[in-house]
Amino acid sequence: MYVCLCRGITDQDIKDAIANGAESYREVRDMLDLGTCCGRCAPEARMIISDEVSQIAARLAVAA
Ligand code: FES
Repeated sequence: MYVCLCRGITDQDIKDAIANGAESYREVRDMLDLGTCCGRCAPEARMIISDEVSQIAARLAVAA
């Protein structure tokens, strides 16, 4: 699903950025150039990033 229409960035692109080390909206933005045109994608992108980071943290807590 496209999240950022201006830059053609999908939810999977965002998840891949997190898998490659991004931990915040700012880091994903810098990695993908996300939200740097109209900015309308920022709220949805922030939710996806928050959910993904929380899921990773929960998996790590279970594994510890
Ligand atoms: S939709 Fe992402 S910058 Fe416009």
